[in-house]
Amino acid sequence: MAEQLKKSASHNIALCRDDFPVLRQTMNGRPVSYLDTAASAQKPHMVIEAMKAAMEMHYANIHRGLYAFSQETTVAFETARGRVAAFVNAPSEKEIIFTRNATEAVNLVAQSWGGSVLKTGDEVILTEMEHHANIVPWQLLRERLGIVLRIIPVQEGGVLDLAAYEKLLSPRTRLVACVHISNALGIVNPVKKISAIAKKFNKDIAVLLDGSQAVVHSSVDIQDLGCDFYVFTGHKLYGPTGIGVLWGRYDLLAAMPPYQGGGDMIERVTFERTTFKEPPARFEAGTPAIIEAIGLGAAIDYLSAAGMEDVVAHEAALLKFAMGRLETVDGLTFHGAAKEKAGIISFTAAWGQPADIGMILDQCGVAVRAGHHCCQPLMQRLGTEATVRASLGLYSNKDDIEALVEGLGKAKRLLS
Ligand code: ALA
Repeated sequence: MAEQLKKSASHNIALCRDDFPVLRQTMNGRPVSYLDTAASAQKPHMVIEAMKAAMEMHYANIHRGLYAFSQETTVAFETARGRVAAFVNAPSEKEIIFTRNATEAVNLVAQSWGGSVLKTGDEVILTEMEHHANIVPWQLLRERLGIVLRIIPVQEGGVLDLAAYEKLLSPRTRLVACVHISNALGIVNPVKKISAIAKKFNKDIAVLLDGSQAVVHSSVDIQDLGCDFYVFTGHKLYGPTGIGVLWGRYDLLAAMPPYQGGGDMIERVTFERTTFKEPPARFEAGTPAIIEAIGLGAAIDYLSAAGMEDVVAHEAALLKFAMGRLETVDGLTFHGAAKEKAGIISFTAAWGQPADIGMILDQCGVAVRAGHHCCQPLMQRLGTEATVRASLGLYSNKDDIEALVEGLGKAKRLLS
């Protein structure tokens, strides 16, 4: 499969757009300028074909059947786990747990690790720029256990206040949970430093990173980051929905109780007592998203063939171009300017509301997200209810940016 992908995926990023069937369509009669990759990425035909082939050629349930189809599908599923492990440089594929999405991965850590390790009064440090998926699971745990949440503030402009972070660390700190690249602003947080600061204060503080955007817009080496848990989702990574990933340090996973109970995660069940498999099986109760995992493996193959370094360079150049062009539109305020920044541009306009701008852009064939981006505390900090967010993917090009600029000109004329 990887060889086949190497031949068909475009090494030249400028040509890879043709790999995405949906981008050949029109939207409202206009060529599609899809600038909402941070919400969900479009899928290359190789991913769609890998999933179709798995269903057409050898589909069966995994880990259970003694017959060829089941064994072939099991191999494909477990091969995908290996692809994920290699993609983020995990020491072992036993540390890769398939979940439904990044949200479920955070909930798994909160319920299983947090539920068994944290005590009343223990402290969890989050940041003001977290996605709700890395806030609400900890609030639910606070209700249950009486833990305390401490919040690293965001400075003017959107960058985390690391001096304030250092002051939040205390003898009761048990976990620091932080987004690697902000989905709302594109800011790349210094997560290696954040992790090192926590470990220097107390080596037993666990660090969880939300890598949902970072795996899309950068090369991630979890061992280099020095974290304990890393979560991301498949659908933003050019893979299908319904599949996400939790990476955890094996010694932590091995000590954690199951998150959900059911088939495929047990060793032996009696009515008196059940014993559980080792990770990752312990955390994958029931029939998993088999086809989706295979699709995620194909998406990683696709990205690897395209070359993550080329993807990063392409997006950085396009971001620079986009900022230059957007600065020609009067009345825009950009949120989240930072030295380290991925291809996610968030702005408000003096002349219109984000939702109105989003709807006018749609009429121009431009897809953006207008809203709070599942980051309401961050929006409150920025003093707005919502922003317009244009987010780049490996298929994005200058035409998309020109369509955005033209659409904003139209929006300004209509809304001013
Ligand atoms: N979390 C997704 C976003 O940032 C849905 O838009």
